[in-house]
Amino acid sequence: MTAQLRPLGDRLGMEVLGIDLSGPLSASTMQEIDAAFAQHPVLVFRDQRLGAADLMRFGGHFGAPQPHILKHYRHPEFDAVSYITNVGADGTIDPAGNDRATAWHADETYNEKLPRMAMLHALEVPTARGGTMFADMRAAFDALPDTMKVRIDGLTGTHRRIAGPARAWALYRQTEAEAKAHPERYHPAVLTHPISGRKILFVNPSHSTGFVGIDPDEGERLVGELCDFAVQDRFTYYHSWRVGDLLMWDELATMHRGAGDAPPQDRRVMLRTIVHPN
Ligand SMILES: [Fe+2]
Repeated sequence: MTAQLRPLGDRLGMEVLGIDLSGPLSASTMQEIDAAFAQHPVLVFRDQRLGAADLMRFGGHFGAPQPHILKHYRHPEFDAVSYITNVGADGTIDPAGNDRATAWHADETYNEKLPRMAMLHALEVPTARGGTMFADMRAAFDALPDTMKVRIDGLTGTHRRIAGPARAWALYRQTEAEAKAHPERYHPAVLTHPISGRKILFVNPSHSTGFVGIDPDEGERLVGELCDFAVQDRFTYYHSWRVGDLLMWDELATMHRGAGDAPPQDRRVMLRTIVHPN
């Protein structure tokens, strides 16, 4: 089986044609997917019909799928697969569902161990819009002025779960136990991707608070400035979901956010898993 690639966006988003993810994949097919993913940090496989077990198997190729921090959304059989949905257990639509995760972020940068990638599988999609947006943090780094590259290369970024200039967590009241469980963590402001070797601007406005050795206010301003730069149209892709899409993204090389623009009463049901490197 040979995969064909078809660009979806100008910069980011690559459709992979000719692969059915519902069964076991040959070593050569997996090599093709690995090669495509190393170059293209957002891959989309259309018309898939996958269950939680399929996500576990496919995700397991890239590392170890992790149980999500929010237990409430976990799949009953596979705790490393979660539902992303605005449909409650009683079938009613939560109109606030549109607002979740609509600030730019990368997942779990407030942990010491960073995830490698994540995937979403669309089971039900809104009648219009309701997309997910991605920003290419490799392209953003490459396009920074040289003076800024020099300024941030070698800096260590500080990260917290409930923080960052996006104020994504403004209404969230963290318990003392949660605060204790999520101390400040440190990651290079410029990461070198372990597979592609590309340099990545590694800050995000939902968890990055600043930089070691830089005044906190100035650090947060710099995070904001870098993130504003990275989310210009020229670095981003808006994915319009179709039922059956399996979209996987590189958690180091991209930021993402829900567009939050679907009709509020439309159902949206997805399966997700986040995969850590082995
Ligand atoms: Fe996320």
